Amino acid sequence: MRAGFGSRVDQVVAAVREITDFAPRIALATGTGLGPILKDIQVVARIPYGDLPDFPVSTAPSHAGELILGRLGGHDVAALNGRFHLYEGWQKDDIVLPIYVLRALGAGIFVATNAAGALNPELRVGTAVLIEDHLNFLGRHPLSGPNDDRLGPRFPDMSRAYDAGLRQAAVESAEKAGLVLARGIYAAVHGPEFETSAERRFLRMAGADLVGMSTVPEVIAANHAGMRVLAFSAVTNNASGGADQQPDSLEEVLENAAIGGDTIRRVILRMIGEARL
Ligand code: HPA
Repeated sequence: MRAGFGSRVDQVVAAVREITDFAPRIALATGTGLGPILKDIQVVARIPYGDLPDFPVSTAPSHAGELILGRLGGHDVAALNGRFHLYEGWQKDDIVLPIYVLRALGAGIFVATNAAGALNPELRVGTAVLIEDHLNFLGRHPLSGPNDDRLGPRFPDMSRAYDAGLRQAAVESAEKAGLVLARGIYAAVHGPEFETSAERRFLRMAGADLVGMSTVPEVIAANHAGMRVLAFSAVTNNASGGADQQPDSLEEVLENAAIGGDTIRRVILRMIGEARL
């Protein structure tokens, strides 16, 4: 991160604090087509990103661009309705700024959702997948540059980036609710172009089940900030790189995100209802 990043975080936190003293326990970030997950929140405050100093404003399709503070199943949550991607031209500091802000506001848990292509042919379109680990092929690392020790350690552990207890709870909650929740490893690529078929076969050989263009910078930052992380993908397209693969399109991604997204929403609500999140 750049020198002065810590004071950039402080500035945004101060701006939120002028509006509300609400302290969320859980932070949620929703991906492409997954905004409806937020419809169950009883809103306490809704802050457009544009009202926050030096805060990025989403340009990605279906990303609304507001910070929502409110109650979900009786718990205090904050939701980033719309996130930031490297392919939009944002710098890594812009992408992770909201994570440090939410941490400073009180959140100890970060829950991310995204739309992803399936490298693993067993993962069908519409499947909800619990992310177990990731591969960072973004070509960027959010923590490079001077470290602000107030935000987190210089060399944070990343061997347990996705909290084992929360993952176990997600699996059990899904099972009890009769929801199918697959598991997989997410590879993050820069985009905005979809991958070539050769790249997809390479990512699959490298051990990934899913491919997408988000989430990994925020997960790294959340771990750096000492948060427990839980993340889900909604499979929106076959990305096996095989002969059966159709040409990729945003329309397909948006259309299919809602299917897995609804399962993810129900798993999250169930976890919250059972006080396991
Ligand atoms: N590749 C990268 N990002 C994606 C994909 C994909 O196939 N599907 C949804 N987001």
